[in-house]
Amino acid sequence: MSKTIIVSNRLPISLRHRNGRFEFKPSAGGLATGLGSIYKEGENIWIGWPGNTVDDPEQRAEIILELHELKMAPVFLSKEDVEQFYEGFSNETLWPAFHYFTQYMVYNPEHWEAYVRVNQKFCDAILKKAGPEDTIWIHDYQLLLLPQMLREVLPNATIAFFQHIPFPSYEILRMIPWRKELLSGVCGADLIGFHTYDDMRHFLSAVGRITGLSNESGYIQAENRIINVDSFPMGIDYHKFAKQAKSKRTLRFVEEFGKQVEDQKLLLTIDRLDYSKGIPQRIQAFNQLLEQHPELHGKVSMIMIVVPSRDKVQSYKELKEEIDLLVGRINSEYSTLNWVPVHYFYRSFPFEELSAFYNMSDIALVTPLRDGMNLVCKEFVASKTDQTGVLILSEMAGASKELQDAILVNPNDRQGVVDAIYNALSMPQTEQIARMSSMQESLKKYDVFQWVKVFMDRLDHVKQKQEELTSKDVDAKVMNEIQTSFKKAKNAILFLDYDGTLTGFHSDPQKALPDTELKEIISDLSPKAQVVIISGRDKDTLGKWFEGQDIDMIAEHGVWVKRKEDKKTDWELYAEVEDSWKDDIRKVMEYYVLRTPGAFIEEKHHSLVWHYRKVESGLGDLRMRELFSHLKYMARGYNLQVLEGNMVLEIKRPDINKGRAATAMMKGIEYDFVLAIGDDWTDEDTFKAMPKNAYSIRVGYAYTQANYNIKSFRQVRQLLQKLTS
Ligand code: UDP
Ligand code: G6P
Repeated sequence: MSKTIIVSNRLPISLRHRNGRFEFKPSAGGLATGLGSIYKEGENIWIGWPGNTVDDPEQRAEIILELHELKMAPVFLSKEDVEQFYEGFSNETLWPAFHYFTQYMVYNPEHWEAYVRVNQKFCDAILKKAGPEDTIWIHDYQLLLLPQMLREVLPNATIAFFQHIPFPSYEILRMIPWRKELLSGVCGADLIGFHTYDDMRHFLSAVGRITGLSNESGYIQAENRIINVDSFPMGIDYHKFAKQAKSKRTLRFVEEFGKQVEDQKLLLTIDRLDYSKGIPQRIQAFNQLLEQHPELHGKVSMIMIVVPSRDKVQSYKELKEEIDLLVGRINSEYSTLNWVPVHYFYRSFPFEELSAFYNMSDIALVTPLRDGMNLVCKEFVASKTDQTGVLILSEMAGASKELQDAILVNPNDRQGVVDAIYNALSMPQTEQIARMSSMQESLKKYDVFQWVKVFMDRLDHVKQKQEELTSKDVDAKVMNEIQTSFKKAKNAILFLDYDGTLTGFHSDPQKALPDTELKEIISDLSPKAQVVIISGRDKDTLGKWFEGQDIDMIAEHGVWVKRKEDKKTDWELYAEVEDSWKDDIRKVMEYYVLRTPGAFIEEKHHSLVWHYRKVESGLGDLRMRELFSHLKYMARGYNLQVLEGNMVLEIKRPDINKGRAATAMMKGIEYDFVLAIGDDWTDEDTFKAMPKNAYSIRVGYAYTQANYNIKSFRQVRQLLQKLTS
């Protein structure tokens, strides 16, 4: 039976030393609590670090057995791994970078080496457990290299990746010296998920700019696969929280805690100790509230739970000191014998007690400066079973995209936060209920089970899509079949597109000239078959590049033809062209060239082409879209066609295309072998025009009318070499 292997740096339970022995306790953090509800199903298993170093082999063996019972498998990290991989690269480089705290970033090559080494440790641990049918679902920023490490050993495995923290803008990511390796690492996955659309957009833009892999509608076109990137906002186990809030045990805690705070209004804040959570800023806002509203003294207090986290990392140590100082200051200034403004707990609480805090608080103040999702705010909403209470939520938390009925605040706007607390304290009950019930509806619907289902369905969908494409792959068997049928043929014809098909792309199109290998391939083929170079290139360039070769040429997508028997005669016009439209269109294109450094216009006999390969990435796309809609509008008046190509936009007469030219070339002749190869939309016309028995091949794994796909121009050359070998 197939299983899902969940992989994350931290297991949902952590080992704690106590009196020379180990014991397990639940791990803190959204990833562990969020996924805690699902890994127990079927044969599933969770692989990760048990959160403490264990050197003694006997103890390790014991822990392996105990965890096995709990459907977990440990990856043990040495003290050095913890310092350099976990505290170092993960939490002193990636965490600050991805949360936009660049001032805390450390660039240490030793930390990077440890990151590579530990990702490899995880890879080895997974390989011991994974079968060919299994799904491997990797989580979070500590394991960005793992998808590609696994892909290299298991090329067909189903691998998904989900990032629980924000993905930063390209401007931040590019500060990391190892950015390319990190992105290539993640791109080993089939499906890559983020909490929000913004994270996904940043990721796609970084992949395009740093690795050069292009994407369309969330699909990255890798060399031999497509990878889907999408946004999946993570939910919580809604009913678990709603049920617990009403349980006897929790209600007992509510009663007990309630005695201490009597009828005060309660503001609740719960976070791991982390600078991204904006804890000092929140204490300062509460302080300002008390300063501005003396009438609230004695009537409102804040319950602040800070769960210890990463306390060996310098920036976290400093944060802890800052919080202690601020809490001390506010309490010493305002406390009375029967009122303490801030009830501060630096520890974690068991679920039942946490639920009591959620249940009894009037306001949850969730104001991170940056947060991938934030589950605390969702847990608060789910726990308010009488639907009273107010959520104040930072717009910098991923959850704010869903919880629009919260009071949304900018955590950097202190007065804004103060006003939000003040308004929340006086919000009428009817409004509280209206807002709370609307948020509850949404959280019930998009709970963690739905999140897993949607994610897994999407993963199936991507695998199917990949399958469709690879089932058309020109593998060794297909190559042999094409070779055999070519060898048998008496009259063969080959339609070969040029750019992207016989050669790679060059930033200057005039420099993509045929090399010696290609010239040899063509001259080996031409005595055995009719070779037709069918290109969008202008006739002069093609003529010059293939001068002396015994081939036919179709230039400018079918405007011109030069047959091999007419060696001396000039190019022949295939289609009558009328080009009075060019002046007007050229003016528009020139305007876009002036606005876009690096862009240029190429004029062909029957078309105008706007090139943007050398334009700053992103800007080129933007301008191309603008020009596209501008030209589309004009094209109607002139009866022209605007087509998007590989970093080009071309406008031309619609009745001229490669398909028409190829049909004319074959007219009246019986061919017993026809092969057409091309790499873009202009070649789709050729594929459509091919007779039934033809082999048609599209370079790259895009959807196509062709019967086959092939990886790159290098494989095309191999295939052509094989035909004559
Ligand atoms: N949490 C916990 N015990 C505590 C306090 C908090 O288990 O004493 C849990 C809380 O229920 C939530 C998680 O820690 O599920 C925090 O997740 P969140 O996404 O809000 O923040 P993260 O820690 O992932 O940055
Ligand atoms: C966040 C991260 C998790 C991490 C958790 C706790 O939720 O997204 O990957 O496990 O914080 O942090 P820790 O460093 O203790 O694992």
